Amino acid sequence: MILKTLVENTSVSSDYKHKHGMCFYIETDSHKILFDLGKNGLFLENAEKMGVNISEIDIVIISHGHVDHGVALKIFLENNHSAKVYIRDNAFDKHYIKLLGFNIDVGLDSSLKYHPQVVLTGDTMVVDHGLTLFSNVETKECYSTSNNALFAKMGKNILVDDFSHEQSLIISEKGKQILVAGCSHTGIINIKNKAEQIVNNKISYIVAGFHLYNPVSRKVESNTLIQEIAERLKDNSTYYDTCHCTGKKAFYKMKEVLSERLAYLSTGSEIEI
Ligand SMILES: [Fe+2]
Ligand SMILES: [Fe+2]
Repeated sequence: MILKTLVENTSVSSDYKHKHGMCFYIETDSHKILFDLGKNGLFLENAEKMGVNISEIDIVIISHGHVDHGVALKIFLENNHSAKVYIRDNAFDKHYIKLLGFNIDVGLDSSLKYHPQVVLTGDTMVVDHGLTLFSNVETKECYSTSNNALFAKMGKNILVDDFSHEQSLIISEKGKQILVAGCSHTGIINIKNKAEQIVNNKISYIVAGFHLYNPVSRKVESNTLIQEIAERLKDNSTYYDTCHCTGKKAFYKMKEVLSERLAYLSTGSEIEI
Protein backbone atom coordinates (compact mmCIF):
# COMPACT_ATOMS: atom_id res chain seq x y z
CA MET A 1 0.00 0.00 0.00
CA ILE A 2 1.27 3.47 -0.93
CA LEU A 3 0.36 6.53 1.11
CA LYS A 4 1.10 10.07 -0.08
CA THR A 5 0.42 13.10 2.10
CA LEU A 6 -1.21 15.74 -0.11
CA VAL A 7 -2.14 18.15 2.70
CA GLU A 8 -0.81 18.51 6.23
CA ASN A 9 0.14 21.41 8.50
CA THR A 10 3.83 21.20 7.51
CA SER A 11 5.83 20.27 4.37
CA VAL A 12 8.81 18.06 3.64
CA SER A 13 10.33 20.91 1.58
CA SER A 14 9.57 24.31 0.08
CA ASP A 15 8.47 22.45 -3.10
CA TYR A 16 5.12 21.83 -1.41
CA LYS A 17 2.72 24.39 0.08
CA HIS A 18 1.12 23.28 3.34
CA LYS A 19 -2.05 24.16 5.22
CA HIS A 20 -3.70 23.22 8.50
CA GLY A 21 -5.73 20.16 7.54
CA MET A 22 -5.39 16.63 6.22
CA CYS A 23 -5.56 14.82 2.88
CA PHE A 24 -3.96 11.42 2.19
CA TYR A 25 -3.81 9.57 -1.11
CA ILE A 26 -3.92 5.82 -0.43
CA GLU A 27 -3.32 3.27 -3.17
CA THR A 28 -4.28 -0.29 -2.30
CA ASP A 29 -4.26 -3.36 -4.59
CA SER A 30 -7.74 -2.50 -5.86
CA HIS A 31 -8.54 1.13 -4.97
CA LYS A 32 -7.32 4.71 -5.24
CA ILE A 33 -8.57 6.47 -2.14
CA LEU A 34 -8.48 9.99 -0.78
CA PHE A 35 -8.83 10.06 2.99
CA ASP A 36 -10.00 13.61 3.83
CA LEU A 37 -9.55 16.56 1.49
CA GLY A 38 -8.52 19.58 3.54
CA LYS A 39 -10.13 22.99 3.32
CA ASN A 40 -9.17 24.34 -0.10
CA GLY A 41 -7.78 23.31 -3.48
CA LEU A 42 -4.27 22.57 -2.19
CA PHE A 43 -4.87 18.81 -2.55
CA LEU A 44 -5.27 19.30 -6.33
CA GLU A 45 -2.00 21.23 -6.63
CA ASN A 46 -0.03 18.70 -4.57
CA ALA A 47 -1.72 15.71 -6.26
CA GLU A 48 -0.37 16.94 -9.58
CA LYS A 49 3.13 17.39 -8.12
CA MET A 50 3.01 13.89 -6.60
CA GLY A 51 1.72 12.09 -9.70
CA VAL A 52 -1.84 11.51 -8.42
CA ASN A 53 -4.61 11.77 -11.02
CA ILE A 54 -7.72 13.03 -9.18
CA SER A 55 -10.08 11.76 -11.90
CA GLU A 56 -8.89 8.18 -11.15
CA ILE A 57 -9.86 8.33 -7.45
CA ASP A 58 -12.70 5.85 -6.84
CA ILE A 59 -13.26 6.25 -3.07
CA VAL A 60 -13.21 9.31 -0.80
CA ILE A 61 -13.57 9.01 2.96
CA ILE A 62 -14.33 12.13 4.99
CA SER A 63 -13.32 11.39 8.58
CA HIS A 64 -15.58 13.93 10.31
CA GLY A 65 -17.57 17.10 9.91
CA HIS A 66 -14.82 19.69 10.38
CA VAL A 67 -13.71 22.27 7.85
CA ASP A 68 -10.01 21.27 7.76
CA HIS A 69 -10.96 17.71 6.68
CA GLY A 70 -13.91 18.08 4.37
CA VAL A 71 -14.81 21.54 3.18
CA ALA A 72 -12.83 20.95 -0.05
CA LEU A 73 -15.46 18.35 -1.04
CA LYS A 74 -17.12 20.83 -3.45
CA ILE A 75 -13.78 21.27 -5.28
CA PHE A 76 -13.27 17.49 -5.40
CA LEU A 77 -16.71 16.92 -6.90
CA GLU A 78 -15.98 19.51 -9.61
CA ASN A 79 -12.88 17.48 -10.58
CA ASN A 80 -14.12 13.90 -10.21
CA HIS A 81 -17.55 12.72 -11.37
CA SER A 82 -17.43 9.03 -10.50
CA ALA A 83 -15.91 8.42 -7.02
CA LYS A 84 -18.14 7.53 -4.10
CA VAL A 85 -17.72 9.82 -1.09
CA TYR A 86 -18.34 8.08 2.25
CA ILE A 87 -19.27 10.37 5.11
CA ARG A 88 -21.24 9.98 8.35
CA ASP A 89 -24.88 10.97 8.01
CA ASN A 90 -24.53 13.58 10.81
CA ALA A 91 -21.20 15.03 9.60
CA PHE A 92 -23.14 17.71 7.70
CA ASP A 93 -24.75 18.96 10.95
CA LYS A 94 -23.59 22.33 12.26
CA HIS A 95 -20.27 22.23 14.11
CA TYR A 96 -18.58 25.01 16.07
CA ILE A 97 -15.50 25.89 18.04
CA LYS A 98 -16.02 28.18 21.01
CA LEU A 99 -13.60 31.07 21.25
CA LEU A 100 -13.92 34.05 23.61
CA GLY A 101 -17.58 33.13 24.14
CA PHE A 102 -18.40 33.06 20.41
CA ASN A 103 -19.39 29.98 18.41
CA ILE A 104 -17.28 29.95 15.24
CA ASP A 105 -18.61 27.74 12.43
CA VAL A 106 -16.17 24.89 11.63
CA GLY A 107 -18.65 22.67 9.77
CA LEU A 108 -19.01 21.40 6.20
CA ASP A 109 -21.06 22.60 3.22
CA SER A 110 -24.42 20.97 4.06
CA SER A 111 -25.77 21.58 0.53
CA LEU A 112 -23.65 18.56 -0.58
CA LYS A 113 -25.34 16.08 1.77
CA TYR A 114 -27.57 14.63 -0.94
CA HIS A 115 -25.12 14.92 -3.87
CA PRO A 116 -25.41 11.72 -5.99
CA GLN A 117 -21.75 10.78 -5.32
CA VAL A 118 -22.19 11.06 -1.52
CA VAL A 119 -22.88 7.86 0.45
CA LEU A 120 -24.10 8.56 4.00
CA THR A 121 -22.65 6.03 6.43
CA GLY A 122 -23.86 4.74 9.77
CA ASP A 123 -22.21 2.93 12.67
CA THR A 124 -20.14 0.46 10.62
CA MET A 125 -19.89 -0.11 6.86
CA VAL A 126 -17.94 -2.55 4.74
CA VAL A 127 -17.04 -0.41 1.71
CA ASP A 128 -15.42 -3.30 -0.14
CA HIS A 129 -13.44 -6.44 0.65
CA GLY A 130 -10.72 -5.32 3.08
CA LEU A 131 -12.10 -1.81 3.61
CA THR A 132 -14.20 -1.21 6.74
CA LEU A 133 -15.47 2.06 8.17
CA PHE A 134 -16.52 2.35 11.81
CA SER A 135 -17.61 5.06 14.21
CA ASN A 136 -19.47 5.56 17.53
CA VAL A 137 -16.29 4.96 19.53
CA GLU A 138 -16.84 5.25 23.28
CA THR A 139 -14.66 8.02 24.70
CA LYS A 140 -13.60 6.01 27.74
CA GLU A 141 -9.87 6.61 28.06
CA CYS A 142 -7.22 9.28 27.48
CA TYR A 143 -9.70 11.88 26.22
CA SER A 144 -8.20 15.13 24.95
CA THR A 145 -9.37 18.22 26.89
CA SER A 146 -9.21 20.39 23.75
CA ASN A 147 -12.37 18.57 22.60
CA ASN A 148 -14.26 20.57 25.24
CA ALA A 149 -14.08 23.69 23.01
CA LEU A 150 -15.90 21.87 20.17
CA PHE A 151 -19.69 21.95 19.85
CA ALA A 152 -22.39 20.47 17.60
CA LYS A 153 -25.98 21.43 16.91
CA MET A 154 -28.17 18.59 18.13
CA GLY A 155 -31.86 19.26 17.51
CA LYS A 156 -32.42 22.88 18.56
CA ASN A 157 -29.50 22.93 20.99
CA ILE A 158 -25.79 23.58 20.61
CA LEU A 159 -24.09 21.04 22.88
CA VAL A 160 -20.54 19.83 23.54
CA ASP A 161 -19.71 17.59 20.58
CA ASP A 162 -19.97 13.81 21.12
CA PHE A 163 -18.07 13.15 17.83
CA SER A 164 -20.59 10.57 16.64
CA HIS A 165 -19.86 12.15 13.20
CA GLU A 166 -16.28 10.78 13.31
CA GLN A 167 -15.40 7.62 11.36
CA SER A 168 -12.16 5.70 10.84
CA LEU A 169 -11.01 3.26 8.16
CA ILE A 170 -9.47 -0.19 8.52
CA ILE A 171 -7.59 -1.49 5.49
CA SER A 172 -6.82 -5.22 5.61
CA GLU A 173 -4.25 -6.11 2.96
CA LYS A 174 -1.53 -8.78 2.67
CA GLY A 175 -1.94 -9.83 6.31
CA LYS A 176 -1.59 -6.26 7.60
CA GLN A 177 -4.29 -4.34 9.43
CA ILE A 178 -3.93 -0.62 8.79
CA LEU A 179 -6.02 1.91 10.70
CA VAL A 180 -6.46 5.39 9.21
CA ALA A 181 -8.15 8.04 11.36
CA GLY A 182 -8.61 11.79 11.04
CA CYS A 183 -8.25 13.85 14.22
CA SER A 184 -9.02 10.96 16.61
CA HIS A 185 -11.38 13.22 18.54
CA THR A 186 -12.79 10.16 20.31
CA GLY A 187 -9.27 9.23 21.46
CA ILE A 188 -6.64 7.18 19.65
CA ILE A 189 -6.54 4.56 22.43
CA ASN A 190 -10.32 4.05 22.18
CA ILE A 191 -10.27 4.00 18.35
CA LYS A 192 -7.41 1.48 18.29
CA ASN A 193 -9.20 -0.77 20.81
CA LYS A 194 -12.41 -0.76 18.76
CA ALA A 195 -10.52 -1.42 15.50
CA GLU A 196 -8.77 -4.42 17.10
CA GLN A 197 -12.15 -5.75 18.27
CA ILE A 198 -13.59 -5.41 14.75
CA VAL A 199 -10.73 -7.22 12.99
CA ASN A 200 -10.14 -9.55 15.96
CA ASN A 201 -6.44 -8.94 15.44
CA LYS A 202 -3.67 -6.48 16.31
CA ILE A 203 -3.45 -3.32 14.23
CA SER A 204 -0.10 -3.26 12.41
CA TYR A 205 -0.02 0.42 11.36
CA ILE A 206 -1.90 3.51 12.46
CA VAL A 207 -1.99 6.69 10.37
CA ALA A 208 -3.76 9.44 12.31
CA GLY A 209 -3.74 12.76 14.07
CA PHE A 210 -3.94 12.31 17.84
CA HIS A 211 -5.62 15.63 18.68
CA LEU A 212 -3.20 16.72 21.37
CA TYR A 213 -3.42 20.44 20.80
CA ASN A 214 -6.07 23.04 20.13
CA PRO A 215 -5.25 24.79 16.84
CA VAL A 216 -7.17 27.93 17.81
CA SER A 217 -5.89 28.50 21.37
CA ARG A 218 -2.61 26.66 20.53
CA LYS A 219 -2.82 24.98 23.94
CA VAL A 220 -1.01 21.63 24.12
CA GLU A 221 -2.40 18.77 26.25
CA SER A 222 -0.68 18.02 29.57
CA ASN A 223 2.60 16.11 29.61
CA THR A 224 0.85 13.52 31.80
CA LEU A 225 -1.79 12.78 29.15
CA ILE A 226 0.72 12.76 26.26
CA GLN A 227 3.01 10.42 28.23
CA GLU A 228 0.14 8.10 29.14
CA ILE A 229 -1.07 7.83 25.54
CA ALA A 230 2.48 7.08 24.32
CA GLU A 231 2.95 4.39 26.99
CA ARG A 232 -0.40 2.81 26.10
CA LEU A 233 0.45 2.77 22.39
CA LYS A 234 3.77 1.04 23.01
CA ASP A 235 2.79 -2.56 22.36
CA ASN A 236 5.56 -3.95 20.14
CA SER A 237 3.11 -4.79 17.36
CA THR A 238 2.07 -1.41 15.97
CA TYR A 239 3.86 1.33 14.02
CA TYR A 240 2.50 4.89 14.02
CA ASP A 241 2.53 7.67 11.44
CA THR A 242 1.05 10.80 12.91
CA CYS A 243 0.53 14.40 11.83
CA HIS A 244 -1.77 17.44 11.95
CA CYS A 245 -3.56 17.83 15.32
CA THR A 246 -0.93 15.83 17.23
CA GLY A 247 1.28 18.92 17.08
CA LYS A 248 5.06 18.84 16.91
CA LYS A 249 5.53 19.36 20.67
CA ALA A 250 3.44 16.30 21.58
CA PHE A 251 5.02 14.35 18.71
CA TYR A 252 8.55 14.84 20.11
CA LYS A 253 7.34 13.90 23.62
CA MET A 254 5.77 10.70 22.27
CA LYS A 255 8.84 9.95 20.19
CA GLU A 256 10.88 9.67 23.42
CA VAL A 257 8.66 6.70 24.34
CA LEU A 258 7.82 5.17 20.95
CA SER A 259 11.19 5.78 19.30
CA GLU A 260 11.42 4.26 15.78
CA ARG A 261 7.79 3.11 16.02
CA LEU A 262 6.57 6.70 15.56
CA ALA A 263 7.08 8.94 12.52
CA TYR A 264 5.64 12.26 11.31
CA LEU A 265 3.89 12.71 7.94
CA SER A 266 4.29 16.14 6.30
CA THR A 267 2.89 17.36 2.99
CA GLY A 268 4.91 15.81 0.17
CA SER A 269 5.85 12.64 2.05
CA GLU A 270 5.38 9.23 0.44
CA ILE A 271 5.55 5.94 2.34
CA GLU A 272 4.97 2.29 1.55
CA ILE A 273 3.20 0.17 4.15
FE1 LIG B 1 -11.54 17.91 13.89
FE1 LIG C 1 -8.38 18.53 12.18
